Amino acid sequence: MSASVSSTASSAASLSASATATSIASSTIPALSDFSVRLIAWQREHGRHDLPWQNTRDPYRIWLSEIMLQQTQVSTVVPYYARFLARFPDVAALACAPADDVMTLWAGLGYYTRARNLHRCAQVVVEQHGGRFPESVEALADLPGIGRSTAAAIASFAFGARATILDGNVKRVLARVFGVEGFPGEKKVENGMWLLAESLLPVNVTDDDVSAYTQGLMDLGATLCVRGKPDCARCPFAVDCVAKVTGRQRELPAARPKKTVPTRRTWMLLLRDGDTVMLEKRPPSGIWGGLWSLPEAADEAALVQLARDFGASADVSPLAPLTHVFTHFRLDIEPRLAELDRSSNAANARDAETVWMSLNELDAFGVPAPVRKLLEGLQGSLI
Ligand code: ADE
Repeated sequence: MSASVSSTASSAASLSASATATSIASSTIPALSDFSVRLIAWQREHGRHDLPWQNTRDPYRIWLSEIMLQQTQVSTVVPYYARFLARFPDVAALACAPADDVMTLWAGLGYYTRARNLHRCAQVVVEQHGGRFPESVEALADLPGIGRSTAAAIASFAFGARATILDGNVKRVLARVFGVEGFPGEKKVENGMWLLAESLLPVNVTDDDVSAYTQGLMDLGATLCVRGKPDCARCPFAVDCVAKVTGRQRELPAARPKKTVPTRRTWMLLLRDGDTVMLEKRPPSGIWGGLWSLPEAADEAALVQLARDFGASADVSPLAPLTHVFTHFRLDIEPRLAELDRSSNAANARDAETVWMSLNELDAFGVPAPVRKLLEGLQGSLI
């Protein structure tokens, strides 16, 4: 399948992840061939220019900011960044600091693996790279705590490398502008996005242009193309954006697919004596802890045995099955109806407390929702 992105509303095309890769391979993104030019121009006029880690090419300062910003908002990072730099002004100072000092200055930022990796990374830079950060994306990505996107951010900001970032914000921008379908956390979709992002990089540009481009991707995702309510009116790509043109800003990028929950099956005994039914108290913890419920068994044979133990007559008949969905699993219920044989002198073989409840006093008992449904069904059949 070959897909392209058009600048006109009527022909805006959505790209599946694999189509994205295909279209990039065949260079068919004609309308947005000027994506980088427009993004750079927008960043220069409307982007952020005075963040504490901007206006420097010092890889140490840039690296520190990128690690702090990995899972944390700009406003939270700013004071931490200042304190960190005051205490550890360069990579050598950080490398030889006691781990406790690093952790103390990090305390409150969260995701503490970042702090441990940060310290280790500083030591590797000192011990293996003579105290200078390597310049290539590949070598940077080999360092502790630096992934592909962070490596590209450092390389582009510090060394003017033509390398693309692809963090969560950028994925959202690309999914919307280019109509990339699928959940971006999925490997296949993400691979397509890396290809797309690389194909969009500016060509024949200065180091400053490269920085403005990378910063522009970040700024667009953080200030306009936000998750909840994107500010499309101010977006430089509004007329081309697949999501905007097709009104799918809320649907793109696609949400994480819902996990399929495991299924459990249980057999429940409705033991009747006239219009009363026997209930059993659930153990205090676990599902339905402390509620009145129906006696349960793990399979058909165990249910029949249970019915006998409680003094049921020989017949055990199936009722319509029922499904109840919990957050972590699905419960398939197989209800079985039996009549108490009053001549039986069987005793309750189980530990649980039991009670005979009249079907019209259901409201007086704390009964789980699906059990209530079963009992109301039984009551209806008796009228
Ligand atoms: N998030 C990640 N890197 C950033 C940067 N350099 N500026 C602002 N936000 C960011």
